[in-house]
Amino acid sequence: MTTSAMTQTGVLRIATPDDGTPKPVPVADWVTIEALRKDSDAVYTRLLRESPVAWVPVMKRILICPAAACTAAEQHAEVFSSQAGAAHMVRALGARPLIRKDGAEHSVERKNINPSLRPKSMLEHWSEIFERNAALSLEELRAIGPCEADLNTHYAAPVAARNLAALVGLPHVPWQTIARWSRDFIAGSGNVTENADVWARCETAKAESTEVLGEAFGRLRREPDRSITSLMLEAGMPEENVRANVLLAISGGMNEPQHVTTGSVYYLDQYPAVRTAVMSDPQLWTALFEETVRYLTPIAILTRQTTADVVVAGYDIPAGSQVGLVLAAANKDPDFVEDPHEFRLDRKDRRHVGFGNGPHLCAGKWAAQAGIGRIAVPMLYRELPHFRVDHSRPSAWDGFIFRGLSKLPVTWD
Ligand code: HEM
Repeated sequence: MTTSAMTQTGVLRIATPDDGTPKPVPVADWVTIEALRKDSDAVYTRLLRESPVAWVPVMKRILICPAAACTAAEQHAEVFSSQAGAAHMVRALGARPLIRKDGAEHSVERKNINPSLRPKSMLEHWSEIFERNAALSLEELRAIGPCEADLNTHYAAPVAARNLAALVGLPHVPWQTIARWSRDFIAGSGNVTENADVWARCETAKAESTEVLGEAFGRLRREPDRSITSLMLEAGMPEENVRANVLLAISGGMNEPQHVTTGSVYYLDQYPAVRTAVMSDPQLWTALFEETVRYLTPIAILTRQTTADVVVAGYDIPAGSQVGLVLAAANKDPDFVEDPHEFRLDRKDRRHVGFGNGPHLCAGKWAAQAGIGRIAVPMLYRELPHFRVDHSRPSAWDGFIFRGLSKLPVTWD
C-alpha cells in the first residue's frame, strides 16, 4: 500500500495497493437523508466498512472514507481542488474566500492571517480576552438560572461569537449580531435551491457587515491591532478579499466551537470515568477538547473537485468528480485510531482529522483549543457548583455534515 504515488501514465494513486487493477466506484444507494439525520455516524461507519469509496446519489458525490485516503487527498490539493462549486459562497460573501482557493493564491492569504492564530499569540494576547468573554457569558448563564439554562443558546453561542468578534477586530459588535450574520452567511453559501428569503437575509447581513467593516478598516489602518482583519490590511490585501475572509471566519468559526462546547459537556456526562479523570487532573482539559473534536467531528465532510483522473484506495475516480472527504469516518477508522469508538483521554497518539490537514488545515484550531478547551468548558465546572446535564429536559442533535447538539439543558446547585 502506498500513501501516494504516480503511475507511469501520470495518474496519482493514493492509499492504494501497489498491485491490482483499479475498480470502478460502486454506488451506495442505501444511504438516505433520513438515515443520515437519524444517525450519521452509523452511516459513515458502514460506508467505511462496506464501501470505503462510493458514489452516494443523495449527496451527488463520491464519498471517500478511509483516513489514509482523506489525508492524502487533502495534501494533494493540485488534484483535489477546493475551488469548485463556490458560486453560492462567492455570492454570499462578496468574493472568493481563501477556503475556496488553491495553491499560491491560497497560501499568500493564509500566511497573512497565521501570525495572529498561532499558539504563542493565544498565550500572549487572546487567552486573556477569551477569559473575559467566557466570564461575561457565564454571568449571563447564571442569570438565566439552573431551571431554564440551555448550554447551546445561553453559553456556547455567546462565547463562540464574542471570541470570533475579537479575532476579526469587531469586539464592539453584539454577539447576537455576529451569530445572526453567521447563520445567514452559512445559509447563503449553501443556498443551492435559490430560496429568495435566504438570499434576502444574506444580503442584509452583507450590507450590515460591510458598513461595520468599512468603519473598522479605517480604524485598523490608523491603529493596527492583532486581529486577522488588521493583519490582512497591513499585508496590503484588497478590501473585498479581506471582507470575504472575515465573513468566512464569521460563518465558519461559530458553529464548530459551539458544538465542541456542548459536545464536551455531553461526553463528560456520558462517560463518568472520563469526567472523574478530568476533574482530578486539569492538564486533561486539552485532551478532552481534542477527543471531542475527533469523536464528534463537527465538520463531517469536506468537499473537493478532482482536476485529473486519480486512483483512491483502489478505485478509479475520473477528473471533474465532486467528492466528499468523510472526516467523520476517517476519525473512526481503526487503521488510524486505536479503538476508535471509545471516548478516551489516555491515548498515546491523539491524532485526528477533525480540523482537516494539509494546506486548508483549520486556521482557528489553536483559538478554538484555547478559547473553548482550556477556558470556556473548564470554567463551567469550576464556577458552577455540581454543574451537570439536566436530563429532565430534552436535548436535541442537528445536522449530518455540520453537526452537533442544538439543545443541551444544563443545571447546577
Ligand atoms: C472546534 C472548532 C473548529 C473546527 C472543528 C473547525 C474545523 C475546520 C475544518 C475541518 C477546516 C478545513 C476546511 C476545508 O479543508 O475545506 C477548517 C478551516 C477553516 N477554519 Fe475552522 N474549525 C473550528 C474553529 C474555527 C475558528 C474558531 C475559526 C476562526 C478563526 C476558524 C476558521 C477557519 C478558517 C479561516 C478556515 C479555512 C482555512 C483555509 O482554507 O486555509 N475555524 N476548519
